[in-house]
Amino acid sequence: MDMTRRKFVSGAALGLATTTLSKISGAEPDGEIKKGEMPLIVSTWPFGKASNDAGLKVLQEGGTILDAVEQGIWVTESDVHNQSVGLAGAPNAAGVVQLDSCIMYGPGHKAGSVGAIEGIRHPISAARRVMEKTPHVMLVGEGARMFALEQGLESIEVDTHEKYETWKKKRASEKQPLRKDKNHDTIALLVLGADGNIAGGCSTSGLSGKLPGRVGDSPIIGSGLYVDNDVGAAGATGLGENVMRYCGSFLVVEFMRQGLHPQEACLAAIRRIARQDPRHTELSISFVALDKHGRYGAASSAQGFQYSVTTNSKSEVLTGPGVGNLDIGEVGGNRPKIKP
Ligand code: GLY
Repeated sequence: MDMTRRKFVSGAALGLATTTLSKISGAEPDGEIKKGEMPLIVSTWPFGKASNDAGLKVLQEGGTILDAVEQGIWVTESDVHNQSVGLAGAPNAAGVVQLDSCIMYGPGHKAGSVGAIEGIRHPISAARRVMEKTPHVMLVGEGARMFALEQGLESIEVDTHEKYETWKKKRASEKQPLRKDKNHDTIALLVLGADGNIAGGCSTSGLSGKLPGRVGDSPIIGSGLYVDNDVGAAGATGLGENVMRYCGSFLVVEFMRQGLHPQEACLAAIRRIARQDPRHTELSISFVALDKHGRYGAASSAQGFQYSVTTNSKSEVLTGPGVGNLDIGEVGGNRPKIKP
């Protein structure tokens, strides 16, 4: 049997949804784990692997999926070499580090988030406390900081002088007022527990040199992160403005709800966004996703996006497909055709 026919038969055996997906991407999605390999932890970037490993340890020692999300993300937030997550992250245009974070728990569809919070070591813990200890979903700025301190969370004075001066010099030599390239590498971390429940979290210092008070996609439920316990979860990294205008992670989860494999759902969301935007080669966005069935994947607007996948039997860094200049359909082609 030739390759094309073999693919067709296996697609038919898997059902309509998978066949449809293969048509969209031109590639067969293959990220899937077996029940015995659960839990499944998926996160953005190679640095997510250390967070995944920490999350797996939490689960192996009897912790909950929320503990795994929170304590996994602590690892990246504490990494002094990471310049885009945590208090070692890049300062804003006023020389201040403002952090964004959110968390979601599938059962009960619970969510908490903090935006533009200053001086708190673990914004993911502040987000979790918002979810668990308040009737609200999101706290921002000084209110978020005061709440975190009241909750006993650790605060740290950050001296950003040197970083700020370097950034100002760089900025002076650039035409663009704000750099939009590789300076916004958020951690989004998704966990599918052995019991089938799903949780996720997201944390970032956001765009380097952002205007004071600028909040990106990461703490916005549905943009930087979305969890639906009946379907799956998705998280985003990259230029927040190009995610939050489209409720990007919500879009990925909705594509999975329609039957797409997580990787195809990520690709479909990026193609949808790219069709709206003539500058699509500069979108600088990536998604990771997992579904209820233990399938996972990622995709990016550019080639070479790496993400981390961890289960009971493996922990590895993979590369997701990039949309780039590939077939995205007609720009503006999302609009429904209305007959005159
Ligand atoms: N995705 C992080 C940010 O744009 O702030």
